[in-house]
Amino acid sequence: MSGIFTYHNFSLQDTPSLKGQIAVVTGGQAGIGKEITTQLLLHGIEKVIIVSRSENKFNTAYEEWRGRNGIDLGERDDRVIFVKCDLGDIEDVYAAAQQIKKLTEYIHILVCNAGLGIQPITPLNTYGIDPIFTTNCIGHQILTTLLLPLLKRATSTSPTGTARIVVSSSSLHQLCRTLNLSHLTRPTRKWPAIYDSVWRYARSKLGNILFTKELSRRLLEDEDPASKMVYVNSYFPGNVVTQQWQGWSEHLGSWIGACIRWLGKRFGQSVEEAAATAVYLAASPEVSEMDSRGQYYVPIAKVKEPTRLGRDEVLGRQLWDWIDDRVARTLGENWQSGK
Ligand SMILES: NC(=O)c1ccc[n+]([C@@H]2O[C@H](COP(=O)([O-])OP(=O)(O)OC[C@H]3O[C@@H](n4cnc5c(N)ncnc54)[C@H](OP(=O)(O)O)[C@@H]3O)[C@@H](O)[C@H]2O)c1
Repeated sequence: MSGIFTYHNFSLQDTPSLKGQIAVVTGGQAGIGKEITTQLLLHGIEKVIIVSRSENKFNTAYEEWRGRNGIDLGERDDRVIFVKCDLGDIEDVYAAAQQIKKLTEYIHILVCNAGLGIQPITPLNTYGIDPIFTTNCIGHQILTTLLLPLLKRATSTSPTGTARIVVSSSSLHQLCRTLNLSHLTRPTRKWPAIYDSVWRYARSKLGNILFTKELSRRLLEDEDPASKMVYVNSYFPGNVVTQQWQGWSEHLGSWIGACIRWLGKRFGQSVEEAAATAVYLAASPEVSEMDSRGQYYVPIAKVKEPTRLGRDEVLGRQLWDWIDDRVARTLGENWQSGK
């Protein structure tokens, strides 16, 4: 798996001013997402809307941002807004999108960062689908679809004339060598349990790449000229020891888990290096100048080919339609219109 070597194609210092722009960051109050929000604030973003489950984590992060040099935030400043949402709950995601639409007419940057990591978790949720896949892929497809009109609207107001969608994936997508859609509603039960968890996570991260490529294709083919100005790319942030890495201890015990985290800290990326590719894709004029669309990036800001399966356009279309159909069972036909 890549992540040991770091390219240096972008530096956070080169982030352009984000004055007047509005961002939505899922999971923007913890781990890598918190650093992405920090960087957006440091570079003058007008507003960041954070979508995640834990308001406590948000409040802790908020106090950190307030204390950070270079970030101007009042005690309860609507420059950073918390929208409570479980991305694994289809109705909750729909409600969160409606709430966001009341908060803003424009979104210049959408970062689909939140994710469930490797952890022992029930094989199927109340929808009868793998919960890791539901949170990491289905939740983000619903949110993005419902917020797309706001992203298109923002293209006429951003300095680059573009809006950006950034999707977190992982080098671990390489572990998933087959994606059978009917298996998403079946427990995989691979053995040992740790392998089952890693494999399910890897499958969701492959899903993130397929989603990015398919969304990019749809945007380019859309008749509305504004759609062509929405750039979507995915990225692997690197190996960064965050809350997700506790999952190793839950599977392998605290001692082995601690060793794995030590290795991650020793040989992985810093949280700033991890955030840098996301910020590059969200803000750098280079992305539109190079017409970089539907690509997969590794740290920092380096394009890399995903696996053959990650480039499978037919599979990408099938997965998109499969998710559309599963969501319709809960939200009804034409849920995409958001009405
Ligand atoms: N760290 C790494 O080495 C690494 C490597 C490759 C890829 N990634 C990817 O990078 C992204 C960020 O990971 P991280 O390392 O920063 O993990 P983290 O510290 O565990 O943060 C995960 C974030 O996702 C949110 N989240 C989790 N489940 C959610 C749900 N059901 N609904 C809404 N929000 C949810 C969490 O907030 P709440 O708990 O409040 O909901 C939290 O903000 C993930 O997509 C991950 O797969 C990380």
